[in-house]
Amino acid sequence: MTNDLRLGVNIDHVATVRNARGSAYPDPVRAAKLAEEAGADGITAHLREDRRHIRDTDIDALMDQLTVPLNFEMAATAEMQAIALRHIPHAVCLVPEKREERTTEGGLEVAKDQNRLAEYIGPLAEAGCRVSLFVAAEEAQLEASKRVGAAVVELHTGAYCDFHHEGRFEERDAELARLQKGAAFAASLGLEVHAGHGLTFETVKPIAAIQAVKELNIGHFLIAESIFTGLTSVIHDMRRLMDEARV
Ligand code: PXP
Repeated sequence: MTNDLRLGVNIDHVATVRNARGSAYPDPVRAAKLAEEAGADGITAHLREDRRHIRDTDIDALMDQLTVPLNFEMAATAEMQAIALRHIPHAVCLVPEKREERTTEGGLEVAKDQNRLAEYIGPLAEAGCRVSLFVAAEEAQLEASKRVGAAVVELHTGAYCDFHHEGRFEERDAELARLQKGAAFAASLGLEVHAGHGLTFETVKPIAAIQAVKELNIGHFLIAESIFTGLTSVIHDMRRLMDEARV
């Protein structure tokens, strides 16, 4: 078994369930601690502009209580930059954010926003955060990510997963090939490569098998499946599939 592929567990949707009833439970920080015990290598939390799931107080508590690194997902806004600079999480992952979307639907348009992003990333990188950009596996986006000073790119696996679950296997395979090529290209530029969005037990192995990929960030499926089998069990099963794909 090799463990050069990290698993980041995204706990946003524990907060979604909490907020649906305006209650104090389930507590996403408790889920994060359980994920940590179950072998998560990191915790991801997305503080959205509208605070629809994770709240500022959750980030305070995660920074206080986690022993594994926090990957702080956020939009590239002035408000979020100030919050990140106050906390200095291990990693900051910049994602596009639209109020009307249900989840992060596409990758960042890095190539079109290079000057602003370079300026935006500078202070975060200087403060010690590893800055990651959530992008499509396209050469132009990857080259631009390198130019603006990102240390990491996270490749968007959403389309690959959707095609799989819709039974559109030719399109899924074409998307997988694009991810494989993009990962190798990003690594050749000296970027660390992560991947995530929409991954499930059925879709994780081909992504985990891409040697250039060093971290997977998985949330919705893990939290959903934990209703049936518990978070510890689902994290163990995901970890096992990742390790099997890596051998
Ligand atoms: N990576 C990024 C950058 C994301 O925005 C998300 C969704 O919040 C994920 C990974 C995890 O996606 P999912 O919840 O579908 O597993």
